[in-house]
Amino acid sequence: MSPAGPSLLLLPLLFLAGLGAGYFPEERYNPESPLRPPTVLIALIARNSEGSLPEVLGTLDRLRYPKNRISLWVATDHNLDNTSSILREWLINVQNQYHHVEWRPQEQPRWYRDEEGPKHWSHSRYEYVMKLRQAALTSAREMWADYILFLDSDNLLTNPNTLNLLIAENKTVVAPMLDSRAAYSNFWCGMTTQGYYRRTPAYMPIRRRERRGCFPVPMVHSTFLMDLRKEASQQLDFYPPHEDYTWAFDDIIVFAFSCRQAEVQMFLCNKEIYGYLPVPLRPHSTLVDEVDNFLHTKLEVNTYLRYFWLTGP
Ligand SMILES: *[C@@H]1O[C@H](CO)[C@@H](O)[C@H](O)[C@H]1NC(C)=O
Ligand SMILES: *[C@@H]1O[C@H](CO)[C@@H](O)[C@H](O)[C@H]1NC(C)=O
Repeated sequence: MSPAGPSLLLLPLLFLAGLGAGYFPEERYNPESPLRPPTVLIALIARNSEGSLPEVLGTLDRLRYPKNRISLWVATDHNLDNTSSILREWLINVQNQYHHVEWRPQEQPRWYRDEEGPKHWSHSRYEYVMKLRQAALTSAREMWADYILFLDSDNLLTNPNTLNLLIAENKTVVAPMLDSRAAYSNFWCGMTTQGYYRRTPAYMPIRRRERRGCFPVPMVHSTFLMDLRKEASQQLDFYPPHEDYTWAFDDIIVFAFSCRQAEVQMFLCNKEIYGYLPVPLRPHSTLVDEVDNFLHTKLEVNTYLRYFWLTGP
């Protein structure tokens, strides 16, 4: 036998081993594919928001997240303006891109009997919003969504990565700090024993991003993400308020109380610029004031975007 014999026989085996496959061709395999992104239900509750909705829906459309992993839950009620048709038209256009769309319009009545103006938060307005938020949460739980993102109808998520960034924080309840043209934002650093806002020295350094990170805070509101896979999230509710509840009848305070009872810490992140929100109006403001106020927010965003464009990220 020539010395080349055995090595010639070995060659095909070495060739197979070089491919990273098994001894037999049947044992070859491809590497595992990556996981699909978690599923998210986005809850949008809008009322008298015709001035802000086109921009807000635009930022929603531009979120860098696969739409087939997102369900939309959209409700509107008691409108004096064209909010309902704007939402309906948008949903008709985008519904095929999203996993699922739930649309809850209520055309009549057009205002609450106990309110002083279209921007006044009356008792019945608070109660109705709590019920809507609860209904959105129930829908998300029933469809086994991994996350629910609550988004206020005048909050602009100009940073298209916001959803991914919040998911990466791995918190039960986490909010992106939203900028405004004043000190106002969507979080509190202090709370009184009755559940009201309390001014604290911790607020401004976070608001101005002198401290950056994700901070435990007693209140986040307006836009925030809830991780429904976390065990403790099952105890979080908006309505009815907890049986021990004696604080103000306000949806954000009711929810903060629910988190406290469930021992869930709320977090606020300010690592990046995520978006903007308008400074709240007074109860007697009109819808013209509303449009005007949102215009200021838009101007602020444009100034920022121009700056961003000139200076780069
Ligand atoms: C209301 O919105 C719809 C859909 O965007 C639009 O077609 C309609 O012209 C609007 N009506 C008014 C009065 O602005
Ligand atoms: C996220 O938090 C959970 C606990 O709630 C923990 O088990 C898990 O390992 C964390 N995931 C990552 C990627 O840190």
